[in-house]
Amino acid sequence: MNILAHRGYSAKFPENTLIAFEEAAKLDVWGVEFDVHLTKDQQLVVIHDESINRTSNGKGFVKDLSLVELRAFDYGSWFAEEFAGQKIPTLAEVLAIFKDTDYQINIEIKSDIFEYEGIEALIAQEILNFGLQERIIISSFNHESIARFQQIMPNVKTALLFASLVTKLEDYVKLFGCEAIHIPYYYGKRSIIQQAIKNGVIVRAYTVNNAKIAGQMDALGVDAVFSDVVRV
Ligand code: G3P
Ligand code: CA
Repeated sequence: MNILAHRGYSAKFPENTLIAFEEAAKLDVWGVEFDVHLTKDQQLVVIHDESINRTSNGKGFVKDLSLVELRAFDYGSWFAEEFAGQKIPTLAEVLAIFKDTDYQINIEIKSDIFEYEGIEALIAQEILNFGLQERIIISSFNHESIARFQQIMPNVKTALLFASLVTKLEDYVKLFGCEAIHIPYYYGKRSIIQQAIKNGVIVRAYTVNNAKIAGQMDALGVDAVFSDVVRV
C-alpha cells in the first residue's frame, strides 16, 4: 500500500514547512500531501489552517496578510525550539523540493472556508511552470474548486475529499470524473466504500499513524494512506 507524507514529515518536523518537506523527500515513499491557501497579495502559500495562529508566533488570517507580512513570523518554534526560524513556504518552494523526486504530489486546495477567488488558475500556472502535470493530484473538500480546476487543467489527476460520506457515492464521483476519493480511514470498511473499491474507484485514507490501522486499510483494498509518521 502506498504512503503519502501528510503535511510533509509532520510527526517529526513542523507541519508544512520546508524542513518537513526536505525530510519527507529523503524517505522514499509514494508521495507527499500539503495544503495551499492564498495571501492578501495573491501568493500561493503552504499552511494547513486559514489562520497562522496555531502554527506560528503570529496572528491573523492568511487572506488578510501579504507574503512579506506572513514571512515575518516563525513557523517552527511552536513545534520545537530547534526549528525556530522556519518560514511559511510558497507553493513554488515546495514544488522545487519534489521536482527531482518521483513522488506523487497531492496539493489540497483549502478553499472550503474562504473561497480564494482565482486560486485554481494560479495553482495550475505553477504546475505548468514546474512541468509537473503528470505527478500532481489536486484534492479539495470544496468540490466546486475541483470542478473549476478540471476546467483549467483537464489532464491533471483530481480527487474528491470527504469528511463524511454521501449516498450515491459512485454516481457522484463519476459526475466529476475524478480518479480517486480521499476519506477518513474509519470509513474504509463501510459497504459503500467497499463497493466503490470493487468497482475501480481509487480510495486513499487519512490520517493513519499506526501499523495496525495501516494493515486494516491494506486488507480493505485502500490504495494509499496519508501519514504524519510516514513509516507505518
Ligand atoms: O488530504 C487529506 C487530509 O489532509 C485532509 O484533512 O484536515 O489534514 O487537511 P486535513
Ligand atoms: Ca490536508
